[in-house]
Amino acid sequence: MPKRPSDVTHAPISHSTDARAPMPDEPTPLLGNRTPRQFMRRYWQKKPLLIRQAIPGLAAPLARDELFALADLDDVESRLITHFRNAWNLEHGPFAPDELPSVKKREWTLLVQGVNLHDDRAHALMNRFRFIPDARLDDLMISYATDGGGVGAHFDSYDVFLLQVHGKRRWRIGAQRDLSLNPDLPLKVLQHFEPEEEWVLEPGDMLYLPPHIAHDGVAEGECMTCSIGFRAPSEHELTAQFLYHLAERMSDTQDTPKANARYRDPNQEPVEHPAALPAMLTERVGAILANVDWDETDVAQFLGSYLSEPKSNVVFDPPERPLNEDKFVQRAKKSGIKLDRKTILLYNAKSYFVNGEAEKLSAKAKKWLPELADSRGLEAKRFVTLTDDSAMTSLLYEWYRAGWIQIDPSA
Ligand code: SIN
Ligand code: CO
Repeated sequence: MPKRPSDVTHAPISHSTDARAPMPDEPTPLLGNRTPRQFMRRYWQKKPLLIRQAIPGLAAPLARDELFALADLDDVESRLITHFRNAWNLEHGPFAPDELPSVKKREWTLLVQGVNLHDDRAHALMNRFRFIPDARLDDLMISYATDGGGVGAHFDSYDVFLLQVHGKRRWRIGAQRDLSLNPDLPLKVLQHFEPEEEWVLEPGDMLYLPPHIAHDGVAEGECMTCSIGFRAPSEHELTAQFLYHLAERMSDTQDTPKANARYRDPNQEPVEHPAALPAMLTERVGAILANVDWDETDVAQFLGSYLSEPKSNVVFDPPERPLNEDKFVQRAKKSGIKLDRKTILLYNAKSYFVNGEAEKLSAKAKKWLPELADSRGLEAKRFVTLTDDSAMTSLLYEWYRAGWIQIDPSA
């Protein structure tokens, strides 16, 4: 059983990765001394932006071997892309370290998805981008490449911040219309790439790209790049998932007379053509479907559950020897609590959504849950002021037992 990198090293989180997201009107080096509001208005989903020294002094959140160790795990999504002898090849992980090419060999790259779920340093780095709603943030991917390595010229359907964390990478980008892909390759590579701009990025430099900008990043020597990626479900996916959600909601109310109503045809005439689908049947079913009702609350309930659902490969690690509830409360009063890296907690005015489950946001929970969700934790002092709410402590205890929240084991 390969060891998890975060179990292997206990490196302190460096000051450069342990930082909060800037406030909306706070100028920040992360965005080239622009405020998040200026960035969102001028660049987000609109045009590329190169930011030199977005995070000055930034070191790679993971060492090369730590990244390779992650790529060896079953619950981590990884890909190996090689470009040996001018031929593109793609393989999916997990990869044992001896299944990866030698680091001395040129032109290969390893991509490890969702590193923020497995490593605190990567998670802290991604949290700098929480001036964009969590509902849009997807994950932090790390790519490792040897000299000349890359994934070919391509485009993505999502916004991305490409943050150089080790070595150098030459990026070429272009806003071309022709996005046709080479059909003979195992990965997305553009048939014709027409770069318009070119830069070499060094550690701490960052390139923001909106969707559909053609780009090609080639390592100059050994290099590592973090991609902070966003999620934007297709309209087709949203519609299909919402209809599924509605069907589930209906099966929850199965005992109501409406849910039990069935198709009836007391006026059906005898037929000469038994195989013909009766027009009346189509009409009636159309009327039944037109009667399916949903409103904004259903949409919000659906979105909250759908967007807080962990990816299918996510596994929580409940504590092996959990504290009892009293001890848990005592410990949390001393050290505070924090959401596990893998926990997704969203809320709106009426409900909260945790790891795919929707719950009503009670008046009492309004006092602390939005705060817990936004700061992904409650400090010890704050926890103490809330402990007379036994509903809160028992709910958080349940989450602790499920591995959804953590308390500092050393406190
Ligand atoms: C990479 O980091 O090698 C690829 C990232 C991308 O172009 O989307
Ligand atoms: Co890309």
